[in-house]
Amino acid sequence: MQYVYPPVRTSVLQLICSFVFVIGAQAAFPASDGTRLYAPCVVCHQPNAWGSPDGRIPNLAGQKERYLARQIASFRSKARVSTAMRLVSAHSTFSNPLEVSSLADYLSALESNPKPVTGAGEHLRLGQEIYTHLCTGCHGHDGRGGPDDRVPRIAKQHYPYLRRQLDEVALLHRKLISREMTTVLRNMRPQEKDALADYISRLENSEALLDLNPRDTRETLPGPISH
Ligand code: HEC
Ligand code: HEC
Repeated sequence: MQYVYPPVRTSVLQLICSFVFVIGAQAAFPASDGTRLYAPCVVCHQPNAWGSPDGRIPNLAGQKERYLARQIASFRSKARVSTAMRLVSAHSTFSNPLEVSSLADYLSALESNPKPVTGAGEHLRLGQEIYTHLCTGCHGHDGRGGPDDRVPRIAKQHYPYLRRQLDEVALLHRKLISREMTTVLRNMRPQEKDALADYISRLENSEALLDLNPRDTRETLPGPISH
């Protein structure tokens, strides 16, 4: 089942306006702590950093510190494209690596969203098979990412955000994986990406994984990958 994105243009514009207002108001505060630095983000990523209720804006809580810092830098340099995040990260606060790392440190210490938005739950077995073949090697069985802080945590991230990331999964990993694997990721079908994103959104959440349905095993899987 395809997730249907609601139209968001107006609301994103409104959110960006509130962001500009909040970050302007923040400039008066002298202290440099995580709460202060995170204040302008609340309007979109929400007070506990669990992401938007519709799951289109990602959870940041409990994410790896270095991964977060690197993303903020790449939005700022425009290497990673997102209109909202380009505007946010253009603020002079983010030219200071110390501010960026204390914000990332603050976020990574927060507890991640216990109830992310998940997918339809129809093809979780397929999602599990693909995940085990192609993704566990780096992101881990539980989706918590690698110990070295380079590989992000993806478990319990929102389905709508993950699904969008998986549209570009080959591109997202192009510098990290072999050519054969890039080809496999590029050829992944939309239904396979739906299943994969749904499964990842439920990792570490045994209740949500109870929907795993043995009948799904009949579906075609991409071949195993050799590294
Ligand atoms: C106007 C809304 C908005 C505001 C304000 C905002 N964000 Fe975002 N943020 C987004 C959206 C939308 C995305 C998803 C971008 C994408 O799809 O690539 C995102 C993505 C991110 C990511 C990438 C997460 C990942 O898993 O890769 C980080 C990190 C992030 N935001 C940090 C922040 C921080 C820190 C602030 C405050 C300084 C902030 N954001 C303020 C909308 C916003
Ligand atoms: C070779 C190791 C490796 C493999 C294999 C791998 N990843 Fe990743 N993945 C990474 C790294 C490293 C990043 C961070 C990239 C960056 O910093 O821009 C990442 C980023 C991601 C992100 C972005 C996270 C976010 O919050 O936006 C998603 C989603 C993701 N991977 C999913 C997958 C899936 C699904 C698979 C299997 C099909 C997979 N990855 C296989 C290493 C890997």
